[in-house]
Amino acid sequence: MPVISFVSPKGGAGKSTAALLLATELAQKGARVSVIDADPLGWISDWGSKPDKPRNLEILPKPTEETVIDQIEAAQQRSQFVIVDLEGTANMLVAFAISQSDLVVIPTQPSHMDGRGAAQAIKLIKQQEKAMRRSIPYAVLFTRAKAAIRTRSQGNIEAQLKNAEIPVFQTQLLEREAYRSIFSFGGTLKQLPANTYKLDDAIKNARAFVGEVISLVTAHRNAEKRGSRADEAQEEMA
Ligand SMILES: Nc1ncnc2c1ncn2[C@@H]1O[C@H](COP(=O)(O)OP(=O)(O)OP(=O)(O)O)[C@@H](O)[C@H]1O
Ligand SMILES: [Mg+2]
Repeated sequence: MPVISFVSPKGGAGKSTAALLLATELAQKGARVSVIDADPLGWISDWGSKPDKPRNLEILPKPTEETVIDQIEAAQQRSQFVIVDLEGTANMLVAFAISQSDLVVIPTQPSHMDGRGAAQAIKLIKQQEKAMRRSIPYAVLFTRAKAAIRTRSQGNIEAQLKNAEIPVFQTQLLEREAYRSIFSFGGTLKQLPANTYKLDDAIKNARAFVGEVISLVTAHRNAEKRGSRADEAQEEMA
């Protein structure tokens, strides 16, 4: 079952927020979800200790370099989606989690500094692709974007990414009060107080992100299946 990791060596890029939105929306649709909370700040574990955590969503404590691969494999046996929220740094644990991923999401705030964080994350992914001799799909996710405004620095980063043929999510996660509130209230977006500012927009935005994650994972899985069928055909002909 697909493993989706959230990676950016830049602290505060929006990894834990995007990871929790993905986990809660998938769980609300009825999927069995495991979240590996490898962020030393433990925001998702804190969220999980509050009321209203969906029962089909489990949170696993921070693994070590030695245990992370086994923990991911075990979670894959139990769940339809395994989500890994990683520390805002580049270390072996992050590299091992990338090596096991079917999709790496790279949250990036639209600023120059964060753009560099994304470049570092992509370097790490490329290293793991070489080490594992397989392609590891990834895409940059703009986070905390201001609704209608696309700032000049965001425009610059987007142009650079396009030039470098780096995939970018069409959906950008906007700066929304609901995405902060979910951590203090617990539960899912839908369970937040109805007077939360622009709650409906926040839910639509999160669902668009989840929809894109599912399409990327499915597209990769189908490509892999086609690849293995082609390999089998070649073996038969040989
Ligand atoms: N889309 C958003 N809307 C509103 N607030 C956000 C959004 N994304 C992140 N934040 C806020 O920004 C801060 C950092 O976000 P978050 O903890 O998700 O980043 P992170 O990449 O996981 O950080 P770290 O590297 O420290 O683990 C938090 O206070 C969070 O509530
Ligand atoms: Mg975090």
